[in-house]
Amino acid sequence: MMETTATRATPFERRDGVLLVGGIPADRLAERVGRTPFFAYDRALIDQRVGEVRAALPAGIELSYAVKANPMPALLQHMAGLVDGFDVASAGELGEALNTTTPPHRVSFAGPGKSTAELRQAVAAGVTVELESGNELVRLREVGELLGIRARVALRVNPDFSVRGSAMQLGGGPQQFGIDAERVPAVLAELAAADMDFQGFHVFAGSQNLDAESICEAQRATVRLVAGLAEAAPGPVRYLNLGGGFGIPYTSRDRPLALGRIGENLAELLETQVRGLLPQARVVIELGRYLVGEAGVYLTRVVDRKESRGRTYLVVDGGLHHQLAASGNFGQVIRRNYPVALACRDDAGEGETVDVVGCLCTPLDLLADKVRLPPAGIGDLVAVFCAGAYGLTASPTAFLGHPPPAEVLV
Ligand SMILES: Cc1ncc(COP(=O)(O)O)c(C=O)c1O
Repeated sequence: MMETTATRATPFERRDGVLLVGGIPADRLAERVGRTPFFAYDRALIDQRVGEVRAALPAGIELSYAVKANPMPALLQHMAGLVDGFDVASAGELGEALNTTTPPHRVSFAGPGKSTAELRQAVAAGVTVELESGNELVRLREVGELLGIRARVALRVNPDFSVRGSAMQLGGGPQQFGIDAERVPAVLAELAAADMDFQGFHVFAGSQNLDAESICEAQRATVRLVAGLAEAAPGPVRYLNLGGGFGIPYTSRDRPLALGRIGENLAELLETQVRGLLPQARVVIELGRYLVGEAGVYLTRVVDRKESRGRTYLVVDGGLHHQLAASGNFGQVIRRNYPVALACRDDAGEGETVDVVGCLCTPLDLLADKVRLPPAGIGDLVAVFCAGAYGLTASPTAFLGHPPPAEVLV
């Protein structure tokens, strides 16, 4: 009789103590991949998460996937069938998004420092360029004139508020992101004088937020702000991107986001504010990490086990060069362990306290600090969870010259 149990703090299941990814036992998957370390993303878990978000959001809200969270081409192809659009942050991401079935008018391009070459690609593609500055408007206008194409344009606004609870603040106060709200009317006036296809506004003010109430508050404040700015717009607002910032629990201290509360708030906002104030606006929520973060796992093999003055180290063949975030060096203020387990033995039962360290010559390469695991030896597979977002492409892969990891979507 096979036993299936949920692994603590992760949505992955086990069968007979062995971690399953996409229904495949992790050790067999490692054979299939042919090498370790590798990232594995579970299609069914992504589907489930998108389904939960769709169920919570009111009808009529569009869901956009922020490609920066995980741009793996196969995953993007999969996402194209699940979401309404893509948010891209570079010409590279733009190219990958355009390789999917998502139509260009459902792709938005945000990010500071877009080069003129990138603006040309975006205008030629027909995606919505989200302006981050007045200078960007000047360059976009020139590009549109040069190509003889009316650029689709929205303004990314740096709001006059910040979002409480966001681990990463991208709005409020001085910012390299977006146009300060008080400067927006002047930029809109310039835009009105140019021959451009004005779409609307985008406010993305924070990321990795587990406090539903503060997200709701930010969404209400965004609608108020945009309704005011719309008065100076050269045409009706047809696009209102409310951002996202939905966080996921990485550590045992984190509580999952109350998604239902956000859905209720959005339903009320749509009903009482947006439909009346901005009747032509399609309303977009833009999520990266929340859709894919918990659906990924980084699998790495123990290559050495050593004792040093009372501590036990499991040295694995991966490390921060692939999964920087788990080492605590990607924006974290205080380092806390990501969920870690042995892939082929259950967490239950007798364990030992170990440090899981990577194969790089730096003490920063720490994947788990004093973690309880079943006794492990050379050859065992270690699973580092929450690896679906800001994993491989947010890591310094060239550091120390090790080969890149494989990635599979299962
Ligand atoms: C403009 C924009 N959109 C979307 C995201 C995705 O954020 P998250 O992955 O936390 O949902 C970010 C993250 O920095 C962003 O800057």
